[in-house]
Amino acid sequence: TPLLDALPRLPKAELHLHVEGTLEPELAFALAQRNGVVLPYPDVAALRAAYDFGDLQSFLDLYYACMPVLRTAEDFHDLTAAYLERSHRDGVAHAELFVDLQVHLANGIPADAVLDGMLAALAEARRTRGTTGGVILAVVRDRPVATAHEALDAVAHRVHDLVGIGLDSAEVGYPPALFVEVFERAAALGLHRVAHAGEEGPPSYVVEAVELLGVERVDHGIRAVEDPTLLALLVERGIPLTVCPLSNVRLRAVPDLASHPIRALLDAGVAVTVNSDDPAYFGGYVGANYAALVQVGFTAPELARLAAASVRASFADDARKAELL
Ligand code: ADE
Ligand code: ZN
Repeated sequence: TPLLDALPRLPKAELHLHVEGTLEPELAFALAQRNGVVLPYPDVAALRAAYDFGDLQSFLDLYYACMPVLRTAEDFHDLTAAYLERSHRDGVAHAELFVDLQVHLANGIPADAVLDGMLAALAEARRTRGTTGGVILAVVRDRPVATAHEALDAVAHRVHDLVGIGLDSAEVGYPPALFVEVFERAAALGLHRVAHAGEEGPPSYVVEAVELLGVERVDHGIRAVEDPTLLALLVERGIPLTVCPLSNVRLRAVPDLASHPIRALLDAGVAVTVNSDDPAYFGGYVGANYAALVQVGFTAPELARLAAASVRASFADDARKAELL
């Protein structure tokens, strides 16, 4: 259809993307072989067959099981480069990528290998395709808080190589309030602040992310729809949500796309953006997430507004935003 044909030409920013969630099964096995690492699945088909998730935790178990194949700067480069190449075809002109540094440090990988690899791929994408973007250090909330501080220690000598700090992984039982000091430290280092909240966790976690961590965007945030006072707060403060429709369906945060709260959030006046989260695992990159919205009645002007909202919600500088708007 003409609507779908025009989608890739809408300049967009991808703001909620875990680089490890772009690990396609073929690349996972290629890296396993290159590094002499054994995956807990015999082959690509068996790994792909395991992509049947009942909730966030069942996904995270598989996602973390694949991470040990990532060992060298070259691995992080190849992973990031593959994502940037793929997302360019969907019109992603600016990409802010989460990385679960604590997990890689625990696997014995130096922070510099992770960042050197990712930044080399980002620099190449900027040179060859004009893509801008950066790296967000995602605090893995179900690991000890001390390891979050260790991750910050490991990047403190090159903090200008990061755009921000985030908060991800198993949400329920790990409220934002636990991370006030980590986020204060990150803010003092000049980092932007975002956090996953209200994916599976209650609206009160979204309130904590805003009021206690000082986040500038909320990742997912879909359960904010349950709390009118919180919706008003997000509107009044102009805090965008990075919504991931296909992720929410795959991880059963919502029963199906038709009942996804994205429409209600937009109607409430919240700044909503569309993103892919972990596209290798959830059946589609950001273009597929926009296309899924067409199926539930979104029109061409609405998709154009969502793309423009993603640019405005990004941490790109004003000149770059103006180019893309
Ligand atoms: N890590 C990778 N994807 C995630 C998600 N959707 N929620 C929380 N943590 C994640
Ligand atoms: Zn996420």
